[in-house]
Amino acid sequence: MLEAREISWIKDHKTILQNTNFHLFPGECVGLIGPNGSGKSSLLKILAFLETPTTGLLYFQGQAVPKSVPLPIRRRIAIVFQEPLLLNTGVFDNVGIGLKIRGLSKETIRERVDYWLDQFGVSHLSKQSARLLSGGEAQRVSLARAFALEPDVLFLDEPFSALDAPTKEGLRIDLAQVFKATQTTTVLVSHDFKDIAQLTNRALILLKGQVMAEGTPSALLKSPQNEEVERFLAHFSS
Ligand SMILES: Nc1ncnc2c1ncn2[C@@H]1O[C@H](COP(=O)(O)OP(=O)(O)OP(=O)(O)O)[C@@H](O)[C@H]1O
Ligand SMILES: [Mg+2]
Repeated sequence: MLEAREISWIKDHKTILQNTNFHLFPGECVGLIGPNGSGKSSLLKILAFLETPTTGLLYFQGQAVPKSVPLPIRRRIAIVFQEPLLLNTGVFDNVGIGLKIRGLSKETIRERVDYWLDQFGVSHLSKQSARLLSGGEAQRVSLARAFALEPDVLFLDEPFSALDAPTKEGLRIDLAQVFKATQTTTVLVSHDFKDIAQLTNRALILLKGQVMAEGTPSALLKSPQNEEVERFLAHFSS
């Protein structure tokens, strides 16, 4: 579905990512985990065509992706960030905007928006102004917007980290359910191993811009592959 080969990203003489390889198969959710500054968001941005790597190549559905990524490819992906980026309009329009841009009919837009607002438990907010939403509600609306696009690949960069613990827990459960039902191919960035354990099939551990380990969440915890990874994962084994 999506592959990155030997990616490096150098900015202002600083190596942010080094010799990074990544692949994503249809239907799986792959986690990227690592401490602050380890390059998780940088890798996500490169995979989501928001940044151009200094060296290395990306392949999307078997085709090499050109440096200037064509719109039809960009439109096959959706991204949700830590802070929900909502437009200053109503909730319904926020979720439907991408579909409108893609030229879908009014009926299809209504159907999809209603469906995804319902999946994320925010149907009752449909007519509300987006700027009045709580953090948890806004993130549910952001997720509904991303899923409404029915993307080939969904990118989630720390979608829960601005939420309090109970809100986060509730949303994680709902998202797990949606993943199970839709098998949406996803890259999930988190610094919380609980998210990774509950939502991903496989995870990569990034330390200082390099992939240091890869495996199922339970295999990573059981046999961390090297000392640095073991030290990082020690924070989560309690
Ligand atoms: N556009 C950029 N220009 C220069 N440096 C950057 C840029 N983007 C990221 N960096 C640097 O790259 C490193 C990795 O940043 P990145 O945001 O990918 O880390 P992260 O793992 O997502 O961290 P966090 O957990 O804090 O979100 C940091 O040192 C950051 O300052
Ligand atoms: Mg980040």
